[in-house]
Amino acid sequence: MAKVVLGVLISGRGSNLQSIIDAIEFGKLDARIAVVLSNKRDALGLQRAEKHGIKTVFVDPKPFKEQPNSREAYDQAMLDVLKEHRVELVILAGYMKIVTSLLIQAYEGRMMNIHPSLLPSFPGLHAQQQALAWGAKVSGCTVHFVTEGVDEGPIIVQAAVPIQEDDTAETLSVRILEHEHRIYPEAIQLYAEGRLAIDGRRTRIVESVKREV
Ligand code: GAR
Repeated sequence: MAKVVLGVLISGRGSNLQSIIDAIEFGKLDARIAVVLSNKRDALGLQRAEKHGIKTVFVDPKPFKEQPNSREAYDQAMLDVLKEHRVELVILAGYMKIVTSLLIQAYEGRMMNIHPSLLPSFPGLHAQQQALAWGAKVSGCTVHFVTEGVDEGPIIVQAAVPIQEDDTAETLSVRILEHEHRIYPEAIQLYAEGRLAIDGRRTRIVESVKREV
């Protein structure tokens, strides 16, 4: 089976990136990370990637701010890097910048995101805090395909995490993160095996369909 070529977009800590690197190194994920891109120069995830000999690129948002359609111009620069590295599947892993339709359309059905809630509950920022504030008894995490609209695309895998009486946003985040680190590599492996078929709002897990690049 041909390895799926990944481009991972991060903004910070990069623990999900690390779980993908580890899954590849342990032979659990038939993928290769061609490049890690960040919109933050000091993202810890860049150092994690470099430790494993993975190419990193920081795309500075500053010079784009002056331009008309600055968000699209920024995403065009990101797209250029992804194309240069022949990326097949784009992985958003704690990438905290809204992705424009320019990038979404270029990678339609080939871009995934992870979010720390059971979508469609609690999209956007501080999802764990939102779940606590709402009084939810169960939260979790979701891997989904990226479409227009924040945290909205067809769901690939979810994991549920019970909320405890004494949970804070921090303690809940830690327990959810353990599941994130398991389900993100799993979702990518399903893609690598050609087992994800998007059908409207649903992602069906099928025997195998040919990956189209
Ligand atoms: C993760 O919890 C991820 O689910 C969340 O940011 C964190 C990044 O951690 N993403 C979002 O909230 C996206 N809406 P990491 O940098 O250690 O992987």
